[in-house]
Amino acid sequence: MLNGLSTIVSPAKSIVPHMDKLIALRNNACFYPSFLSTTNDFSMQTFLHSHNVAAIASEIAANLGLIEEEIQTVYEIALLHDIGKSKIPEEILFKPGRLSKEDFEIMKKHSVYSEEIYLNIMKNSDKPGIRKKAKIIRHHHENYDGSGYPDGLVGDEIPVLSRIITIADIFEAIIHPRVYRPHPVSEPMKVMAEMAGKKIDKDILECIYDVLNSYISY
Ligand SMILES: [Fe+2]
Ligand SMILES: [Fe+2]
Repeated sequence: MLNGLSTIVSPAKSIVPHMDKLIALRNNACFYPSFLSTTNDFSMQTFLHSHNVAAIASEIAANLGLIEEEIQTVYEIALLHDIGKSKIPEEILFKPGRLSKEDFEIMKKHSVYSEEIYLNIMKNSDKPGIRKKAKIIRHHHENYDGSGYPDGLVGDEIPVLSRIITIADIFEAIIHPRVYRPHPVSEPMKVMAEMAGKKIDKDILECIYDVLNSYISY
């Protein structure tokens, strides 16, 4: 790891039956990486994290048997899910240790900021489904048991692509060091299993256990 930054993930072995298609989808989404990498106040750590979440989330979607359009959507949306962090003060974003209650309330606003920025980026686009995609971004921190934010949605009320991004997002964070946690979590699959039915969708996790496991180097 370089200076505590996430590294770009690659599965130890691909268990996706159509990885070639996935790679093509990722290459087609070149607008998003170039946008992210030229946004001045968007940290390199969030940039790498977003790439990794996009890779993991699209692989999860492929393994769940979602159609190609949805796999492409989850990839593109995952790249932008944390773009709203560019509006969070750096002293909160990079604060070592646990955030205070007040700081966490500010940090929580990033998912709504991400939704707003996405809608702004796409305001002149005639592509279909922009509002639906914006909602997927908005809800990436909802918890399956309703304890998440910003709207406290429960279970199937949370868009399925948001639930996929949530799993990829949490998993990516626990297999890499963070400013508040200098080492990756040991036994990440055990940690994920403990969150099933609480923070994350238990049924999805059961289907993609091997996908996540393939990203862990023991
Ligand atoms: Fe987030
Ligand atoms: Fe994230």
